[in-house]
Amino acid sequence: MTIDQHRFCVIGPGRLGSTVLAGLLEAQLTVTAVGVHADDDTSLFDFVPHVRVRDAALEADAWWLAVPDDEIFGVAGRLAESLPAMRRTGAPQPLAIHSSGLGSVHLLKPLSEQGVRVLCLHPLQTFAGEPHAKLLQGVPCAVTALEERDLQLGEELAARLGMRPFRLADEQKTLYHLSAVVGCNLLVALESEAKRLMDQATGDTRGLDHLSVLLETTMKNLLQGGEPAFALTGPVARGDIGTVRAHLRLLDRESPRLARTYRALSLEALALAAPRLDDEQVKTLQELLGAGETGAPQ
Ligand SMILES: NC(=O)c1ccc[n+]([C@@H]2O[C@H](COP(=O)([O-])OP(=O)(O)OC[C@H]3O[C@@H](n4cnc5c(N)ncnc54)[C@H](OP(=O)(O)O)[C@@H]3O)[C@@H](O)[C@H]2O)c1
Repeated sequence: MTIDQHRFCVIGPGRLGSTVLAGLLEAQLTVTAVGVHADDDTSLFDFVPHVRVRDAALEADAWWLAVPDDEIFGVAGRLAESLPAMRRTGAPQPLAIHSSGLGSVHLLKPLSEQGVRVLCLHPLQTFAGEPHAKLLQGVPCAVTALEERDLQLGEELAARLGMRPFRLADEQKTLYHLSAVVGCNLLVALESEAKRLMDQATGDTRGLDHLSVLLETTMKNLLQGGEPAFALTGPVARGDIGTVRAHLRLLDRESPRLARTYRALSLEALALAAPRLDDEQVKTLQELLGAGETGAPQ
């Protein structure tokens, strides 16, 4: 059996679901339905029949649940209740997919208990704008399943949509998702603080513009270097104790919350830079950053 024999239904034509729909169609896979909440719900894919979840069970045999994480188990349950007692002759064993980065494959248990193959495909990308199949091209995609043949099916499907599949154990999904959040979402929060400080310093509101070349070069160095330590520059990496002291003096006065973030992240930077510094520099920086005070006379 191959994925070409499946009749797909994407349930939840939202940000990810619409992109998946575009990807399935572009890959010339058969899409027989779009699953929606209410009878009058529409999407950009009005040429594909829009059906309620209970009807989706009949209209397809491969369901991609692109609903919010908290809805996956409930939608899987409703689908499971509506599965047809008999499968059409020659139909492949049904298949269900969800795309939560954190959620276990067991969220699809109501379906696996009914003999449906289950797997997770999580594209490691953010989808916010207009859906387009090309948004999936080259995107790393975590594949999670409990059986080897389901992992292989997930890899085949992800590759067919142009993504770069890699395997992820179900019990590692929290750690995996944490990595994505630290690397992406928290970076945005940090850059927002950097913009605020830059706007304050220059008196204009073009902070991100001023920071853009620095940011792009840092990302380029980080992604090309292989080891994050290669991309690390700045006062901690140089052991410039006076500069760190000056930053802390300003932050402790003006922005105690950011001062805590600065100390915590500078200690992480120090762990990366330590092999390049002498023992005295490391000790002084550790005291300065760990002490919770500037260490300088006021
Ligand atoms: N967006 C991303 O960047 C991204 C990336 C990777 C993975 N994901 C994963 O993709 C999944 C969907 O996220 P999203 O960002 O695409 O969410 P979204 O834009 O909010 O879309 C969710 C869709 O599900 C529908 N829906 C909600 N509850 C439903 C229910 N009970 N029955 C049927 N349809 C329902 C929504 O319809 P209404 O709008 O009418 O409520 C909407 O069409 C999540 O598991 C998320 O973790 C998202």
